[in-house]
Amino acid sequence: MEVVILPSSKEIGALAADAIEALVRRKPNAVLGLATGSSPLPIYDELARRHDEDGLSFAEAHGFALDEYVGLPLGHYESYREVIRREFTNRVDIKPENVHGPDGTAGDILGACAAYEAAIKAAGGVDLQILGVGTDGHIGFNEPGSSLASRTRIKTLLEQTRQDNARFFSSINDVPHHVVTQGLGTIMDAKHVVLVATGVGKAAAVRDFVEGPVAAICAASVLQLHPHATILVDEAAASELKLADYYRHTYTNKPAWQGI
Ligand code: GLP
Repeated sequence: MEVVILPSSKEIGALAADAIEALVRRKPNAVLGLATGSSPLPIYDELARRHDEDGLSFAEAHGFALDEYVGLPLGHYESYREVIRREFTNRVDIKPENVHGPDGTAGDILGACAAYEAAIKAAGGVDLQILGVGTDGHIGFNEPGSSLASRTRIKTLLEQTRQDNARFFSSINDVPHHVVTQGLGTIMDAKHVVLVATGVGKAAAVRDFVEGPVAAICAASVLQLHPHATILVDEAAASELKLADYYRHTYTNKPAWQGI
């Protein structure tokens, strides 16, 4: 696990975009794992800028969203399918038919989850997975207690997560209780995982998953077992890390050719 502490979300967005740009230029049909929430927005802004100004193309790329609410009608403004479209895929030239998300409206949720897993596999697996982290350490919507080997399935949200996400809805009563999410095992299959966390509200979660034990109570801690996990944090999110100085020293002295 590599921890990189950067001054602000602007630098975080640029560094993550560098990794995505290098991937897409090397492998135009790369499979991107797309996350919602506010943390990845600077990455999407930077990629959209590079698309407009530098001709960075996603024409052959594929995208798979991490998760989705269950029970929001198709086209609902806050459904993650719409958020991904609005914040990223509509702003670049990725083909709409190459962008996928778990189906939160399916009558047969189990069947839809299995089909989603199969679609990721058929596309060749995720090359680079963007992640945020919840205040309880969730990634995707893998709440505390999620099996570290889990696959795409239905989950029930913690009240804390519903409260955290209520800012996107007119009232907490509108935040669904159920979601479908890629499992921790699904996320672990991605070749490179880039997790972004900013602000002091994430400091405890970052401390727990980076430096605490690998345990289902803190789902993101499973990333300690990933061979290529990059954690991009600002100073506030890094404020509870014991080894912060070591991470800074390591990154400052890293050979430039290495990238993240
Ligand atoms: C939601 C999403 C997660 C995201 C988390 C944190 O719960 N399912 O993928 O990481 O929110 O969001 P934010 O980045 O807005 O703090």
